[in-house]
Formats: sequence, structure tokens, C-alpha cells
Amino acid sequence: MATDSFGRRIDYLRISLTDRCNLRCVYCMPAKGVTWKPHEEILTLEEVERFAAIAVQEGISKIRLTGGEPLVRKGVVGHVRRLKALTGLEAVALTTNGTLLARYASPLAEAGLARVNISIDSLDPEVFARITRGGRLADVFAGLDAAFEAGMGPVKVNAVVVRSLSQDLVDFARLALDRPVHVRFIEYMPVGGAALGECEPAAEGWTRADHVPADEILERLNSEGAAAGLGNLEAVSREEAPGGWGPARYYRYPGAAGTVGVITPLSHHFCGECNRLRLTADGRLRACLFSDEEIDVRSVLREGSDEDVSAVIRAALAAKPENHSMRIGTTRGMSQIGG
Ligand code: GTP
Ligand code: 5AD
Ligand code: SF4
Repeated sequence: MATDSFGRRIDYLRISLTDRCNLRCVYCMPAKGVTWKPHEEILTLEEVERFAAIAVQEGISKIRLTGGEPLVRKGVVGHVRRLKALTGLEAVALTTNGTLLARYASPLAEAGLARVNISIDSLDPEVFARITRGGRLADVFAGLDAAFEAGMGPVKVNAVVVRSLSQDLVDFARLALDRPVHVRFIEYMPVGGAALGECEPAAEGWTRADHVPADEILERLNSEGAAAGLGNLEAVSREEAPGGWGPARYYRYPGAAGTVGVITPLSHHFCGECNRLRLTADGRLRACLFSDEEIDVRSVLREGSDEDVSAVIRAALAAKPENHSMRIGTTRGMSQIGG
């Protein structure tokens, strides 16, 4: 079992398979675009698999693949199959923008992928196209349907709540009425941007005014949901909540097949229960989303022994900060860290 220096049990590894994405979400990628990491700086899938095998020996039992967009990485299906075969690994999950999922859901499920979380920040096709700089909402819904058809579950939708987007939260909640979809509203986090040096410390696209605290999200879901005839939200206990490894808290409208949840990194930070490490596509271990301190594991994977790799994992655990100290802006953006 892996524990950090604050006694937290660390059993969840988020692996960013690529910094590339087929979308350009306004809060994730700078308008001027990002320079992709050169090929040789990105871990090969074999290197990721070797790392994962060692991490499992060190106590990791759950892996989530992220990006960028993980489904743009060539060979992702075989990769899932090989990860899934690691003894001691409980499950492999994936966070995706959903645009390629209609094509991949069935082969991924067959390879052993347990479940998917799909990001959707607007239900209006035009607004969706604007905030993703060209994405097609219909593709994402085709992906959501395909995840169900492939038998993956629980199926979750992630919606980042941004005040200036004026999202209709009840419209999102309706996705959870007839099907067991779990819609999680995420507080907009100040990630990225610090490297821009324009108004340091700042985060790309993020302003305090755009942050909507979860209490307000829940209050709106209650009052607007009641007005729309959905009834009042009931808290869902941990035992009844959809299976997951992250910090979401869940609620349900009476009689709904699915749930709505909130992820509250800023208003009620969950650092005390943090259970995860992150591996970036270019082979850095990141102990906290908000901390730019990273440890190079790529050179160790290329030149060192398994024991050297284990030592790096232990060093990352030892360096994991107690909390994120409300830091605003990080050097790397979300697409490079993987959320
Ligand atoms: P489940 O296992 O299904 O609960 O997934 P998850 O919430 O762990 O993963 P997902 O990739 O769907 O992430 C949802 C949101 O939670 C994203 O916006 C992440 O950036 C955010 N998140 C996940 N882990 C952390 C964390 O350690 N700190 C902060 N601040 N946010 C996190
Ligand atoms: N704040 C909160 N969530 C974010 N995501 C991307 N950028 C941010 C941000 N600044 C979400 C994505 C995806 C998940 C991995 O992180 O929408 O659902
Ligand atoms: Fe791509 Fe996800 Fe970033 Fe949007 S949030 S640009 S879908 S990596």
C-alpha cells in the first residue's frame, strides 16, 4: 500500500496519454494554440505500461487515462488491454471529450475498459462549437449512446460550470432523469496560464467572476429544478453513489435513473482525501494538479532499473503537498496535465 507523508493512501493513477486534442476548449487551450510536445519527448505506450506495472507493485490499483484527448493516441485499445491484464489492477477508466467514442466504445469495452467520463460543457450545439472551437455536440452524444450500448458503466458527464457561459444547469440534470447518466458539475479551476507571463499569476481564460461555487450550483439545481417540476434534490450516500475514485458528491431528483454531482476543488477542497498521482504524457510525475513541482520519470524509464522507477514513485509520494493553497495559475495547462 502506498501512503504519502500526510498518511493519505494513494491508489489512483491518472495517466495523460497525449497532450494533443482534436478540440480546442477555450479554458483548456490558449487561443494562439499550443505547441505539441515533440514525439521523442512523449512516453511510448510500452514505457507507460512498464511504469504502470511498477506503480501497481507500489500500491496503485486504479488507472484513468486522460489527455489531451486520449482517443487520439494511436494504439489506445491495445494499451487498455495490456493495462487491464496487470495483476493487482482493479480497473482502467477513461476521461474523454467523447467526439471519437462512437467509434471506440465497443472495442474499448471489449479490451476491458470499465467506464468513461465524458466532458460536455454546453448543450447548445452552437455554444458547444464556440467553446470547443469547432466541436460537434452530436458526435459527443453519439459517443455517450455508444458507451451505454457497449455496456460500460457508470457513465458520467463532466460539465465545467463557467458563469459567463450562462449554462442551463437543469438542462444538464435532465440527462440524468431517464438513463443512469451521472452528471457532475465541476467548479472552474484556475489551471494553466502562468507560463504566459501576461498577468502572472493568472490562469488561461479563468477569472474569479467566472467561478461558480458548488453551493450556488446546488441551490440553482434545487430552485430551478423544482420550478421545472423535477422536485427537490436528495443527497445520495457514499454506498449508493455511482462507483468512482474521485471527489464528487452526488444528489438525485426523486425517481431519476441517474444522479447529479458536484466537484468542489475551490469552495470545499478535498485535498485531505486526495488519493492520486498524475503521469504526464512527457513522463513527469505530478503529485498535485495545482503544484508545478514535477519529477522526471521519463529518463529513469529510459535509462534506469525497475527499482529506480519505484524510487521515483516514492519520491513523488514524499513530495506530495498537503493541499493546493488556493494557487492561481500553473505553468502547464489542463491539456498537458490531464485534469
Ligand atoms: P471518477 O472516478 O469517475 O469519480 O472520476 P474523477 O472525478 O476522478 O475523474 P475525471 O477525469 O472525470 O475528473 C473530474 C474533474 O475533477 C476534473 O475537472 C478534474 O480536473 C477534477 N479533479 C480530479 N482530481 C482532482 C484533484 O486531485 N484536484 C483537483 N483540484 N481537481 C481534481
Ligand atoms: N476547471 C475545471 N475542470 C476543467 N476541465 C478542464 N479544464 C478545467 C478547469 N479549468 C475538465 C474537463 C474534463 C476534466 C478532465 O477536466 O472538462 O472533464
Ligand atoms: Fe481537449 Fe479536453 Fe482540453 Fe477540451 S478540455 S481542449 S476536450 S483536452
